[in-house]
Amino acid sequence: MKGVSRSPAKGGKTVKAIVIGSFGGPEVLRAAEVPVPEPMENEVLIEVACTGVNPVDWKIREGMLSGMFPHEFPIIPGWDAAGRVKAVGRNVKGFRIGDRVYAYCRKPKVKDGTYAEFVTMDHAAVAPIPENVGFAEAACIPLAGLTAWQSLFDAAKIQAGDKVLFHAGAGGVGSLAIQFAKHAGAKVYTTARTANHAYVTSLGADVAIDYTKESFVEAVRKREPGGIDLVYDA
Ligand SMILES: NC(=O)c1ccc[n+]([C@@H]2O[C@H](COP(=O)([O-])OP(=O)(O)OC[C@H]3O[C@@H](n4cnc5c(N)ncnc54)[C@H](OP(=O)(O)O)[C@@H]3O)[C@@H](O)[C@H]2O)c1
Repeated sequence: MKGVSRSPAKGGKTVKAIVIGSFGGPEVLRAAEVPVPEPMENEVLIEVACTGVNPVDWKIREGMLSGMFPHEFPIIPGWDAAGRVKAVGRNVKGFRIGDRVYAYCRKPKVKDGTYAEFVTMDHAAVAPIPENVGFAEAACIPLAGLTAWQSLFDAAKIQAGDKVLFHAGAGGVGSLAIQFAKHAGAKVYTTARTANHAYVTSLGADVAIDYTKESFVEAVRKREPGGIDLVYDA
């Protein structure tokens, strides 16, 4: 595969990454050797075991978000990482080399993401992975989990007993939102194709509605004639 080189690191040590040199379709993704990043004083250097893949990655790759955040090519995509602490900046406390961690690696500039063997991130966005969670599972949680959590608890202020309808309950955000809402004591309706009904009910959804076969408005209205408290388009 044709590579895209970035400037060589001090000492010349490089690692593998996936980069894009321009906006475009999947064909702009290339394997490359990139410099090993150095952690700044508040950062953790993570040796990435697994990266999450989110819809925002292809939206960035296609240039759809170029007016929303600063971008600098070549770009390493990816905002979710799980792996082990390789080094810490001098102000970082609470992390030791080798700790299993995961992080939401969104930075002020879209440039050095998580589709790489190493990524640096501010320690405030890094957390230990619980012992019973593997790297692959942990890498799926930060972006989708924070989106679901902040929407439900900070914005919607969900309460026990609330009746909630999620759209796209089988997706990354929806699957975590269902679990958070059930944990908070809500009654959960969700849209999903029939093939995903067993999955969304296993997560705790009370009622799954196949939006390709029936009107979700009618399906909810006939069960909740008095209306519901929250509709969340995940
Ligand atoms: N603004 C933010 O901060 C933020 C953060 C995270 C995500 N997002 C956005 O939120 C969206 C979902 O993200 P995700 O990670 O959850 O994506 P995902 O994992 O790809 O899930 C998408 C889900 O959408 C469902 N779906 C597709 N068409 C549908 C329709 N017409 N009606 C209802 N459900 C439909 C699919 O399930 P079925 O096959 O069962 O329908 C699928 O599970 C993306 O557009 C993403 O970019 C925004």
